[in-house]
Amino acid sequence: MNTSRFVNISDLRLAAKRRLPRSVFDYIDGGADGEITLRENVRAFEDVVFRPRCAVETAPADPATIVLGTPISMPIVLAPVGSSRMFWPRGEEAAARAAGAAGTLYCLSTLSGCRLEDVRKATTGPAWFQLYICGGRDVATAGIQRAKQAGYSALVVTIDTAVAGLRERDARNGAKELVSGNLGTMLPFLPQFFARPRWLLDYLRDGGLMKFPNVVLPDGPMPYTDVTAALAAAAVTWHDLRWIRDAWDGPIIVKGVHRGDDARRAVDEGALAVVVSNHGGRQLDGVAATIRVLPEVVAAVGGRAEIMLDGGVRRGADALKAVCLGARAVMIGRAYAYGLGAAGTPGVTRAIEILREDVVRTMKLLGVSSVNELDRSLVEVPTAWTARASIP
Ligand SMILES: Cc1cc2nc3c(=O)[nH]c(=O)nc-3n(C[C@H](O)[C@H](O)[C@H](O)COP(=O)(O)O)c2cc1C
Repeated sequence: MNTSRFVNISDLRLAAKRRLPRSVFDYIDGGADGEITLRENVRAFEDVVFRPRCAVETAPADPATIVLGTPISMPIVLAPVGSSRMFWPRGEEAAARAAGAAGTLYCLSTLSGCRLEDVRKATTGPAWFQLYICGGRDVATAGIQRAKQAGYSALVVTIDTAVAGLRERDARNGAKELVSGNLGTMLPFLPQFFARPRWLLDYLRDGGLMKFPNVVLPDGPMPYTDVTAALAAAAVTWHDLRWIRDAWDGPIIVKGVHRGDDARRAVDEGALAVVVSNHGGRQLDGVAATIRVLPEVVAAVGGRAEIMLDGGVRRGADALKAVCLGARAVMIGRAYAYGLGAAGTPGVTRAIEILREDVVRTMKLLGVSSVNELDRSLVEVPTAWTARASIP
């Protein structure tokens, strides 16, 4: 497929919508409840305005940076996206391959359809492993050991998933019924698959309904049907971070921080980085956009750990706004998942390329040549966003 015709992430989104059955597209595209936070994550970037320095002589813009000691080609890494194998055959491997080729980092979800060892091998770049403690402590510890053995360099512990959010689109599309294994229950929801024969063929060739090979229960890999219950039983607490730290014995990143005091707590518990994230508006609806709470978290952490952000990043300029406000890098979820659903590895490659070109162009227009020069003086934010930043 000629992916150069995709000019922005919205184009990839539309292409994914054309290729994927409704239930799969909406699983990527949708958010929790009224999708207020989902929309707000994207919209709030509009409230950050640039203050470029013009007519300055700069060297060619170089977007390379370093995250937790790891050099990457741009301040954008791939967020954990569960069930990517539903979007494209061996989807996690396909996405990781594109990330590595672009010189950036791929974070694999616990809830992936490909074995973590195979995903690690698929990328020439660095990789992190995202942890859900599905199946309990022993099962999670076994996953952590495998991730360590396979060469993942950091563990990302997601703390915002005490229970799976209510994604209304999934409920309407029959997400639960479709994995029930009961033909009668599934029947009303099956026509959407026949409307997408290309996807259906790929899906069947790839083995049909995936399991979760990185969550190995006593009787084998966790089946798809069990995921909602498994997540509800897998809520992470600060207490868990202690045994997780012992089991992993490497850098830990806490993902899903919404407020300054939680960020501080994560750092006190040993996290070397935190990700300001509301799970892309898929968990608690009605929480603030992540870019809005970034100044509060940056102030609370006070340089003791690295800070990343995800949620709503659809342009390179969004990533740079976050970096100007103190993030080391951003994670992208849907921006690359759309590319994966549209065209596999080339689609993810195109998504990354679009964002990278945006980043380079925006740096030039801002009058900076390196990521280190991006600072608070280059953006203006609503005063309300910084009010909490001064509350201890
Ligand atoms: C389809 C999908 C699946 C996701 N699965 C996971 C997951 O397994 N673990 C996790 O920590 N976050 C997961 N997330 C959240 C992302 O890691 C990230 O926080 C979010 O996508 C960022 O928002 P954005 O999509 O607007 O970029 C998922 C997001 C999407 C869209």
